[in-house]
Amino acid sequence: MRVLFVCLGNICRSPLAEGLFRELLRKAGLSDRVEVDSAGTADYHQGAPPHPGIRRLAQEKGFSLDGQRARRLTLQDLEEADLIVAMDRSNREEVFALNPQVEPKVRLLLEFADTRELDVHDPYYTGDFTRTYRQVEAGCRGLLTHIRRQLSAEPSP
Ligand code: 4NP
Repeated sequence: MRVLFVCLGNICRSPLAEGLFRELLRKAGLSDRVEVDSAGTADYHQGAPPHPGIRRLAQEKGFSLDGQRARRLTLQDLEEADLIVAMDRSNREEVFALNPQVEPKVRLLLEFADTRELDVHDPYYTGDFTRTYRQVEAGCRGLLTHIRRQLSAEPSP
């Protein structure tokens, strides 16, 4: 199963979600069942590592963002992913604009969290990485529960 996280620049929110979700999968023993990737709808930071504020958070919390580089979302990404997880409603609109047919497999990250919030806060302009982390963590934990259910509903090979 392939999960793709999408934000705008692919240097803050979606790299954080990618790194944290990969860590949750590892702890759950599901790393070999689920592939995780991320991309941005814009190419402003193509090739750049995650934002220093995100790198600091990952280090504090003890998971790795090694090897992550910002890249722009492609049509092929959308085709290949089983689940496309947008960080906010504007990212979701951009995905629909690229290919409206993928709608059935697109979700907002916070749909998986126990909150009425819809959009993950973009820390790029505010520097409020803590708020973003809280939301991304809640969303990723809920997403793990969702994926566990999906995997256990799959017929055995
Ligand atoms: P992200 O945050 O979408 O969470 O990676 C942003 C990164 C860069 C910009 C905006 C948001 N930017 O305008 O360059």
